[in-house]
Amino acid sequence: MNSSVNKDLFKPDVYMKCICCGSSFSPDPWRFFCPKCGCLLHPFLTATMNVSWSELRKRRLGVWRYREFLPLSSKLEPVSLGEGGTPLIRLRSTGVGEAYIKFEGANPTGSFKDRGMTIGVTIAKHISVKGVIVASTGNTAASAAAYAARAGLSCVILLPKGRVAIGKLAQAILHGAQIKEVEGSFDNALDEVLNEYVKKGQKELYPLNSYNPWRLEGQKTIAYEIVDELGFVPDVVIVPVGNAGNISAIWKGFYELYESGLANKKPRMIGVQAEGASPLVKTWMKKSKELLVVDNPETIATAIRIGRPVNWMKALKAVNESNGAFISVSDDEILEAMKNLAMLEGIGVEPASAASLAGYKKALGIGLVDKGETVVLIGTGHALKDPDTILRIASWNTK
Ligand code: F0G
Repeated sequence: MNSSVNKDLFKPDVYMKCICCGSSFSPDPWRFFCPKCGCLLHPFLTATMNVSWSELRKRRLGVWRYREFLPLSSKLEPVSLGEGGTPLIRLRSTGVGEAYIKFEGANPTGSFKDRGMTIGVTIAKHISVKGVIVASTGNTAASAAAYAARAGLSCVILLPKGRVAIGKLAQAILHGAQIKEVEGSFDNALDEVLNEYVKKGQKELYPLNSYNPWRLEGQKTIAYEIVDELGFVPDVVIVPVGNAGNISAIWKGFYELYESGLANKKPRMIGVQAEGASPLVKTWMKKSKELLVVDNPETIATAIRIGRPVNWMKALKAVNESNGAFISVSDDEILEAMKNLAMLEGIGVEPASAASLAGYKKALGIGLVDKGETVVLIGTGHALKDPDTILRIASWNTK
């Protein structure tokens, strides 16, 4: 990549740092793995943030309110659909303690993925690629397809055959993505993107899965918005985990707020996985140095039906550094939580998102979280993403 292009793309003080060996590199949109040891990278800015909450609050709530914290040059025109600025809703009936849900279903394509795509597709637009490519359980695909359309780029998506919720598939079709179905799970689709495109060094399609650290920079704004709206840092944040990019991004957001003096503490991060797709729960419980993969992940929460999360090391760091935990919940607990959120609170989320409430209840039960603590649950995606599961719950209600 031409270094003058990178100069126009990134702020002058941005660098990338390996999460394992600590080596630093100049910013490059195509550098996803450490050239020395192969681990993932984090982007950082060297400048100390010189901005106050009152200054930030003069701007529209959303991803781009926090432009000082984002690595892209302030001269770049973002590819945006007004992402972020989602409601933080206090739970009245289902929250046993002081609990809120950050309703990411209110993003333009109905999931938190839009926060990352605004950054990722802005980069893609400025580096002369034909389009973008992602493997997906559905939401990344829907989001990439919409943002690519907005940018005038093509979009190629690889999906696990027969296992993508119909609302997400319909969105990808609506926005004109080229769809390829892959046998097996998301893990097989991601392998295909990595082996057939990324590792071959092709530069026609920009890959936007969550090993792309630039995309995650957009997702870290979930943390900023939570503190911005609450006016303080919650004690605990509970996140449904699949490929483990989001929990890593949110933790990075809280960490940066703390480092910049805009927050006086950091929350404990609790990652929730479905029992049949819980490689990180197993790895964390056994304190394993290797990822304990799940070969045939299975859960009704298809968004997080992942057995080999690419961001597993980043997510372990987030949970360990924050003194948090990983816990698993059953499909029945997920459905019960989804039903409770819908019927008692009026909040419609897809199954993976309901894992956060199911996880909160479990965490309270086993004493991981205290009733007096302020908790924020990340409601990652909208209920309409997965109408088949809604109908299943509806038939359950009439029994
Ligand atoms: N919740 C929803 C609704 C999701 O779509 C995803 C991930 C997650 C939680 C987990 O986030 O992967 O960052 O740990 N969906 C990806 C996709 C895998 O392809 O749409 P994560």
